[in-house]
Formats: sequence, structure tokens, C-alpha cells
Amino acid sequence: MAVSNTVGDVLRANGVSRRGFMKFCAATASMMALPPSMVSAVAAAIETAKRPSVFWLPFQECTGCTEALTRSHSPTVENLIFDALSLDYHHTLMAASGDRAEEAMYKEMEANYGNYLLLVDGSIPTGDYEAYSCTNGHTHLSMLLHAAKGAAAIVSIGTCAAYGGIPKANPNPTQAVGVQDLIKDKPIINVPGCPPVPTVMTGVLAHYLTFGTIPELDEFGRPMAFFGQNIHDRCYRRTFYDRGLFAETFDDEGAKKGYCLFKLGCKGPVTYNACATLKWNDGVSWPVQSGHGCLGCSEPDFWDKGSFYRPLSAAYWGDAKTVGASAAAGAAAGLAAAALARGKQKKAQQQEEQA
Ligand code: SF4
Ligand code: SF4
Ligand code: F3S
Repeated sequence: MAVSNTVGDVLRANGVSRRGFMKFCAATASMMALPPSMVSAVAAAIETAKRPSVFWLPFQECTGCTEALTRSHSPTVENLIFDALSLDYHHTLMAASGDRAEEAMYKEMEANYGNYLLLVDGSIPTGDYEAYSCTNGHTHLSMLLHAAKGAAAIVSIGTCAAYGGIPKANPNPTQAVGVQDLIKDKPIINVPGCPPVPTVMTGVLAHYLTFGTIPELDEFGRPMAFFGQNIHDRCYRRTFYDRGLFAETFDDEGAKKGYCLFKLGCKGPVTYNACATLKWNDGVSWPVQSGHGCLGCSEPDFWDKGSFYRPLSAAYWGDAKTVGASAAAGAAAGLAAAALARGKQKKAQQQEEQA
């Protein structure tokens, strides 16, 4: 088991400059809501951390979560953090397969019993449908139960692993569930999103490397540092929402001017994720910036909560507690603002006609 190298050794061996590393540490400290004075402490902790053993088990999934993490045009510090973690086993990324790969994995788990980090993406079929998702003849349910026993903590990557995701959507043909529905005796960090923002995945792991503990979580098991604020409060289209300026169709004048997408079904007001600030592909863009409303993909059962293109409705998105009181109030305020704006427009028009 290659645990002799520190994370710093691996990053240096991969050509990461001190400057690049410090930049990553500053961004990570900021994401974790730590003061700037903590950046050097974060850097020291990450640099000297021993490479923990990590096993990534992909279950009933579409590979989108892994794709999100690896789809980068050039190696980044974020990717290298993953290399530095000693990712001993990942079906999709590893070259080995079959019995020998399985044997190697179980041997490594045995050697690191009680200390390894278990990463899971994909949901887990249960009951009569357990056999519908297997690797090398083993059901994913049995693999999870086995791997979880020796894990120090589990990170559920993506909405499928966290809450069941799309496979669990009505009528849930495989009786799929998320990891937290099956494992009750281990710390679990949910990193939802379909797929999750790559920087959030690496940020959570950086936190684990730095402090050796799991971060503060919200009521859905998500790290507060990344999921503490909703999309709507950080959205650059928010000023249009507040002024009651909405796109009515995807190709009208409002859409071209970048107006708010609330009326086209945007679920930003009830969705907690870091997309609006961290963005995707090295900060290039995110769904709302590309002209499509947020689907609410980091929320439990987002697929079953009503049409993606119907404006938000409490009937589908739950009571004020689930939706978030401020979000519900915000949605009402935005619509009221829209009505007010329309009223003012009409009045101005009438005055113009009378003049
Ligand atoms: Fe695919 Fe989304 Fe599930 Fe990830 S969360 S495995 S991207 S369906
Ligand atoms: Fe942005 Fe959507 Fe909120 Fe409009 S409703 S401000 S597009 S998050
Ligand atoms: Fe998902 Fe909405 Fe972000 S759809 S990727 S949470 S903008």
C-alpha cells in the first residue's frame, strides 16, 4: 500500500508549482469559509498529509459524475488532488479488471481497514431487483455493505448515490436507494448534483485532508460550505428577477437580454449548490449562464418534483421548510415585482396615450 508519499510529494512530482498549489489552497480555504489567515495552515496540512487510501465504487450510474471530474483539457491541481489521494480502485478509471482487480481491492481494504475513504457514485438497487446492478458477479448492494464496514467515512458523489437520483425516480423500477438509506453507522457526506460541481468534490476531499474530519453538514447531509446558499441568491440574473423582468420563451427578446428564467421553470430559488459561484469547466459557465434554468439537480427527488419547464410551485417543491422560507418569499416577491412592473408599464402607456 503506497502511503509513504505525502500529498505535497505527489503534487510536486506532477509538476504543480508552489504558486499553483497556494492558489488552490486559497480557493479551498475561501470555499470552506475560512479567513485568509488560515490559507498557510490549509497549505501545510494538505502538503504534509499522508496519502489516504480511497476506493471509488461506481454503482447504478451513468458515469456522468466521473466524467465531470475528469473532463478537463489540462491537468489541474484539482485533478492532481485526486491522484494524490491514492485512488486504489475506480472501475472506470483503472486499467485492471475482473477477478484480479477485485482481489486487489479487497486486499487493500483489508490492509487499511477502518481508515480508508469510500467514494460511491450511483444508486443501489434493492429487494427483488438487487441483481440488476452488479460488478464481476457481485451485486452492488453486497459490495456497498462489505466496503462500508471498513470505511472511516463515506462520500456519496452525485444525486444518485446521495438520494437515489434518476434511477429512483417514479416508478423506480429497481427499487433504487441512496447510500444513506442503507448505511447508518458511518459518517456520510453527500455531494449531490447531477453531476456535482468538480470543485465541490475536490473541495470536500481537501477538507478531509486538511482537518481529518467531515465538514459541517446541512439537513440533507450536504457540506454547508458548498451547499449553504441557494443558486438564486448568487445568480447574476437576480437583478432582473428583482425588477420583474423575465424571459417568457427561450428565444424571445427577454431571453436575448439575459432576463431571469423563473417563468421558464428555473428551480434556482429552491436549489442549494455552488454552481453560480464556482461554475464549471474551470469557471467558464454554468446552466443558467448557458440560457437554461436550474433543474434543481442537487435536491432530493428533483426528477419527480414537477416539470423542469413549469414555474416553481410549492405543491411540487414542498412546504416552506423544504423550499426554504427565504426562497419561497423571494419567489413571491419576484412575481409581485413582475406584476408591479407590468402595472407601471401599463400606467405609463396610458399616460402617454392620454398626453
Ligand atoms: Fe449520472 Fe447524475 Fe447519477 Fe451522476 S448523479 S451518476 S451524473 S445520473
Ligand atoms: Fe437566476 Fe433562476 Fe433565480 Fe432567475 S429564478 S434569478 S434565473 S436562479
Ligand atoms: Fe444542477 Fe441547477 Fe447547478 S441544475 S448543475 S444545481 S444550476
